[in-house]
Amino acid sequence: MAEERAGSTAPESAPAAPAAPAAPVAPAAPAEQGPLQADTTDSASEGYYSDADSDLTSLASSVTNYVYENGRRYHAYRAGKYVLPNDETEKDRLDLVHHLFTLVLRGALHLAPIKNPQTVLDMGTGTGIWALDMADLYPSATVIGNDLSPIQPQFIAQNTQFVVEDFEEEWAYPENKFDYIHGRTLLGAVKDWPDLFAQAYKHLKPGGYLEMQEGAVWAWSDDGSLKDDSPIMTFLSLLGSESEKMGRPMNVIDKLETWMKEAGFVDVELKVFKVPWSPWPKDRHLKEVGKFQFANMMQSIDSYGLALLTRSAGYSEQEAKIFLAVVRNQIRSKALHCYNKIYCVYGRKPEKPTESEKE
Ligand SMILES: C[S@@+](CC[C@H](N)C(=O)[O-])C[C@H]1O[C@@H](n2cnc3c(N)ncnc32)[C@H](O)[C@@H]1O
Repeated sequence: MAEERAGSTAPESAPAAPAAPAAPVAPAAPAEQGPLQADTTDSASEGYYSDADSDLTSLASSVTNYVYENGRRYHAYRAGKYVLPNDETEKDRLDLVHHLFTLVLRGALHLAPIKNPQTVLDMGTGTGIWALDMADLYPSATVIGNDLSPIQPQFIAQNTQFVVEDFEEEWAYPENKFDYIHGRTLLGAVKDWPDLFAQAYKHLKPGGYLEMQEGAVWAWSDDGSLKDDSPIMTFLSLLGSESEKMGRPMNVIDKLETWMKEAGFVDVELKVFKVPWSPWPKDRHLKEVGKFQFANMMQSIDSYGLALLTRSAGYSEQEAKIFLAVVRNQIRSKALHCYNKIYCVYGRKPEKPTESEKE
């Protein structure tokens, strides 16, 4: 694919994707909010539509034992498994996303109705920021965060533990160990969700909860300002198709609830929250959310796109970077009133073993 396009000049708008993705298929789960209203009077947010690329950029990492690609650093343990970077820029973005989630959830770290949990596991903990907050919230709990990358801080609260571990392998923890298992923004990191949920089920105590908090790798608009053939939708479709080709699909958000039920969890609840991509809404809370999501999106486009476009979709580094810049430009448009959705899904392992578990 890359060879076919080798002689072409750099595109001025969205470059032709090597394989045109199929017509976008939006995740089909319900939204709990009605159509979002755009603020047509707001001048205070003007700055958010200008180039904010450098807002989160920090010094390059001095850690050397990693894989470098297209100017970004990736994990070395089980290299190639996970397509987002793990460098300082990405760590800053993950901490920003933590703020975004807690803002959307009005300060809550979890929605599952857990009471005084004593053993907590955070799958794919990233910088560990959620696990550290959780350990603060429940000081008598032990909170374990695992990850492929050792990018967590070293000086941590005594009731927190970080381990380099692959959550797709057979878990070494005892069965019925945890009161609560959490995973956040793992879309694109998991090959076999039913298997992951089955492992979580096995290692939860009876009565314990599994909770996934995920941001849909998709976008919507209520006023038609986001067109199906726009760079953003081309990009999101490509993420969907290429991540699927690589074996860890990103566009599976609407299946999480079903997979959780099929794994045996009961009282499964799904809560959906709209997350505007810039401070365009009238609603003050959503406007605040939009400011943080805008900064996140300026970084996310590269984090989610660079490796997939170059490793799987046949783009050269330069082609990928130009295309991703075009996508960011569309996000900067004030006329665009788009959002994605955060899905929080949780369910309880039954107190009593089911008939099949007794056998
Ligand atoms: C987008 S980050 C989210 C981090 C964290 N959950 C949060 O919300 O701040 C996904 C994390 O999952 C980790 N990850 C991906 N695949 C994994 C695996 N198989 N085992 C353990 N961690 C994994 C990545 O290294 C990355 O740190």
